[in-house]
Amino acid sequence: MSKSAKLELGEKTIELDIIEGTEGERALDISKLRAETGFITYDNGLGNTGACLSNITFIDGEKGILKHRGYTIENLCEKSSFLEVSYLVVNGKLPSTSELEEFTAAIQKGSKIPEGVKTIIKSFPKDAHPMGITSAAMVALSGFYPEYLNQDLSDQQKKEIIPLMLGQLKTIAAAVYRHGQGKDLIEPNNNLDYVSDFLYMMTGNEPNKEVAKALDVLLILHADHEQNCSASTVRVVGSSKANLFASISSGIDALWGPLHGGANQAVLEMLSEIQKDGGGYEKFIEKAKDKEDPFRLMGFGHRVYKNFDPRAKVIKAYCDVVLDKLNVEDPLLDIAKGLEKTALSDEYFAKRKLFPNVDFYSGIIYKALGIPTNMFTVMFALGRQPGWIAQWKEMIEADGMRITRPRQIYQGKTDEKL
Ligand code: ACO
Repeated sequence: MSKSAKLELGEKTIELDIIEGTEGERALDISKLRAETGFITYDNGLGNTGACLSNITFIDGEKGILKHRGYTIENLCEKSSFLEVSYLVVNGKLPSTSELEEFTAAIQKGSKIPEGVKTIIKSFPKDAHPMGITSAAMVALSGFYPEYLNQDLSDQQKKEIIPLMLGQLKTIAAAVYRHGQGKDLIEPNNNLDYVSDFLYMMTGNEPNKEVAKALDVLLILHADHEQNCSASTVRVVGSSKANLFASISSGIDALWGPLHGGANQAVLEMLSEIQKDGGGYEKFIEKAKDKEDPFRLMGFGHRVYKNFDPRAKVIKAYCDVVLDKLNVEDPLLDIAKGLEKTALSDEYFAKRKLFPNVDFYSGIIYKALGIPTNMFTVMFALGRQPGWIAQWKEMIEADGMRITRPRQIYQGKTDEKL
């Protein structure tokens, strides 16, 4: 196939280079379009726009494939731990035994949060949303680790700050939870693995192995998802050479929204609403189909996956095991199962290729694990942090990195006078 395409614009014909990805995706390079023709492109929601070249994550939304650095998500969930996957996503290769030990030790060393950050967390109202507190605590770290604020971090500084971020967010997330419960914060326990330590700092108890394993898989499933809303936010903020704390804090903010990471909280809230209404989910399915009604089935649909979400497939299998092992009986889970079954066989959802996404099931597992609803999106952030760091690192290390600055098509008034 030709490596360029011709674009006719009136009298003018220009050649656009075709860029091919390693998994066969193709893109038209329009970077010189405006200079050569005066035209820009318009792409509402950027669904057809490749904003970067990347080696981190590959998604085939039609086939339901998700790979990190060439490994499928199914393979990683079966054979790896969250810290191994974090190392892989950030550094481009799986760690050796000694590299994993060194990485783990650095995360443990970086797990104690500054007293000032604890004070900031405690200064929030108890019922403040945990995502707001987490974001504020993250950006507050910039004041306590000024050595990492220079714009061009050395390789050694990157090696230090990455495990530091993973350690700090684990403790911040647990502290935010304790604060919301009106309880004293708990210091990290370096004898525990990452997930067990997080659960220990949340609850004061060491979790059983099954619960820790289930959460570890959930964090792996969220580790990265290429140029989604929050990762793109991290890249946009980082492209101004803002520091990593500010960039990740912005990613947390983008994740908070109910159309993105906040969907896992919204799923449980929707299930509770259905329960309060008497449990009849059919009425809510009809509401979701009604174009006059803004209601959407939370946890259904995805911008990229148009047949199934591979993460949802892994987690659904896990969900059944966890509920069985924990012996959980919950009427909300029955509503979830009924809703899922009925929506999947409904023509409206089938025609639009709307399937349950990862958030539909993650909320159910978090609930079974005893994690409160308003902490769900913080759990997502904890899982997603390696992806954000990897996207930021790849961007700042790329040749010819430029500040992100899209254009617009002005449609406002012209020539107004006072
Ligand atoms: N319930 C009912 N209808 C829906 C839903 C839904 N959850 N999602 C999409 N649709 C409909 C739209 O109304 C539209 O119908 P139309 O063609 O008749 O106008 C069609 O399906 C296509 O929808 P879009 O909005 O174009 O899809 P888009 O790719 O822009 O949005 C999104 C994807 C935001 C995920 C959407 O499906 C949604 O709002 N889902 C619910 C929220 C959710 O679960 N978000 C989590 C995403 S996964 C993640 O962040 C990890």
